Amino acid sequence: MELVIGDVQKRFGAVEALRGVSLTVPSGEFFAILGPSGAGKTTLLRIIAGIEKPDGGRILIGGRDLNDLPVRARDTAMVFQTFALYPHLSTFENLAYPLREAKVPREDIKRRVAEVAEMLRLTHTLARKPSTLSGGEQQRCAIGRALIRRPKLLLLDEPLTNLDAKLRHDTRAEFKRLHRELRTTTIVYATPDQLEALSMGARVGVLRQGRITQVDTPSALYETPDDDFVASLVGDPPINLVPGTLRESGGGRSIDLPFLGLDASPWRGALGGFPAGTKLTVGLRPQAIWPAVAAEAGPRFPARVYLTEPLGDVTILDIVAGGDTRLRMVLPQEQAYRIAVDDAIECAVDPDQICLFAQETGTSIRRTAMGARAEAAA
Ligand SMILES: Nc1ncnc2c1ncn2[C@@H]1O[C@H](COP(=O)(O)OP(=O)(O)OP(=O)(O)O)[C@@H](O)[C@H]1O
Ligand SMILES: [Mg+2]
Repeated sequence: MELVIGDVQKRFGAVEALRGVSLTVPSGEFFAILGPSGAGKTTLLRIIAGIEKPDGGRILIGGRDLNDLPVRARDTAMVFQTFALYPHLSTFENLAYPLREAKVPREDIKRRVAEVAEMLRLTHTLARKPSTLSGGEQQRCAIGRALIRRPKLLLLDEPLTNLDAKLRHDTRAEFKRLHRELRTTTIVYATPDQLEALSMGARVGVLRQGRITQVDTPSALYETPDDDFVASLVGDPPINLVPGTLRESGGGRSIDLPFLGLDASPWRGALGGFPAGTKLTVGLRPQAIWPAVAAEAGPRFPARVYLTEPLGDVTILDIVAGGDTRLRMVLPQEQAYRIAVDDAIECAVDPDQICLFAQETGTSIRRTAMGARAEAAA
């Protein structure tokens, strides 16, 4: 079912929790809302679920205004951030509860509980009480209870937050499979975890202080963030944001970083309006910096290794360049094992992976090639 959110606002006393949120989620899409704690994720989901009233704006579900839809006809289910199962009821009874409420015939209840339990791998727990289930099983039981009435719109509020790393990984995969199986169910999934949002969402909306700042596919968010906030939210380890200054140098222009001068010509068009001396923020992904090989062309700079963090398959290196600029880089283990703390290394940067932002506003400055393509399309 299609979900349309139009200019929704919500205030709690002095707190503006939502400042005009607009979004359209097509029927059957897995849409992720990514935002830090306090951004307004739960508030937005509660408003979509009809539990909370917005101060302004409107919600359309399947083309009908939420206010005109009787609760029974909403076909919406929500899994809450702090889910609660009925402690005195077995898994079977917890799953059956919404169906009993809806006066579904006894035989149908049995069949549908069995189906959902099978899908969520809960069959072996049907006779047991929540306190005897593992964290992941409890979580899946809460999800099953939301799914059992086959909602056309499923709202998930940080459903994996209380699980350990391994279970999170398994349950992420499980959600994607579930979404494929349910097909027509629209899912809105709120999380502060970029990995969850990017790995599951077909599209991701970034929520910041009650505003949606960018809606894009995971790869577009990573490669062409609209501002330095999105850039720093997306990607692991986080992007390095380095202050730079725009300079005139001979015939062309360059961007001076504390440890490197970058040719500014890839941003020629977009930088046209900025005078020399403009303060910029340069985004360097940890994946876009590596130890230079002798013959390698392109930008490079000397650095000293400050810290190494081996993670098994990759190693995160903290380096210091240009006096006191800390940078992070990530290397495959086979390249990293020779590098030790306090080593002097020469680093290379992939200029194609550099993101540029205006320092004052944080707004992205796009490469000229992309600007030209966008202009041609317009
Ligand atoms: N009932 C309430 N009364 C007062 N303030 C509230 C209420 N509910 C939410 N807020 C405030 O609104 C803002 C958004 O809260 P919300 O719970 O939607 O954030 P969130 O993105 O879900 O955060 P988290 O990731 O921590 O769950 C916060 O500043 C919060 O303190
Ligand atoms: Mg929340």
